[in-house]
Amino acid sequence: MNYQFAYSVGFHPWEDAAADPAFVNRFCELMEREESGRTPPFGPALDLGTGSGIWGIQLARRGWQVTGIDNVAKALDRARERIRQAGVEMRLVEGDVTALRASGVGAGFRLVLDTGTFHDFDTDRQQAMGREIDAVAAPDATVMLLVWPRRVRPLIRGATREEIEGAFPGWKITHVEASHFRLPKVLQMIMRPDEHWYRLCRQ
Ligand SMILES: C[S@@+](CC[C@H](N)C(=O)[O-])C[C@H]1O[C@@H](n2cnc3c(N)ncnc32)[C@H](O)[C@@H]1O
Repeated sequence: MNYQFAYSVGFHPWEDAAADPAFVNRFCELMEREESGRTPPFGPALDLGTGSGIWGIQLARRGWQVTGIDNVAKALDRARERIRQAGVEMRLVEGDVTALRASGVGAGFRLVLDTGTFHDFDTDRQQAMGREIDAVAAPDATVMLLVWPRRVRPLIRGATREEIEGAFPGWKITHVEASHFRLPKVLQMIMRPDEHWYRLCRQ
């Protein structure tokens, strides 16, 4: 997907997930699990490919100290405005998720969230992203990846479990759970998203 072009023409259907109660409820359930037994502030969280900052803002509202990174300036402009309207604190960095150390995001993230970046990468970039996450995540971090299955179909490449394991050699997948995201019926039939959340912790 050419995100630069997509944002320039106002094409960002992934943002529709924010209006899908089933998806939002599942997201909240999964975050509650990460927060359970603790009180806010929950610590540093990194929202990879933050786009318009939708999910980073959700994390900030919940009590995480969030940094969002994206490599499309127009997306970050939208995120800036959304953050302002939400009245939350969230730091934004323009940079590449496959070069996190060079981007200046910092380190020690307890939660690393990716809603839709990893699964559109080829294997080399998936592995670069995994290495960079490994370098900036805290020892007790959780990584949450939202992944479409790997299939031949329009727009999104998807990723296999083996690719995820290959990109995160020092990590183990602890959960694979349906996101409950529903596209409009016509797109559902064409794109068959059946996406899942993969939760990873260090081995
Ligand atoms: C499917 S969109 C998801 C956006 C946002 N996470 C959401 O769910 O609304 C993927 C995002 O990843 C960003 N992205 C893609 N490749 C990237 C890279 N190499 N470095 C940083 N961001 C990237 C895109 O610009 C886009 O905003």
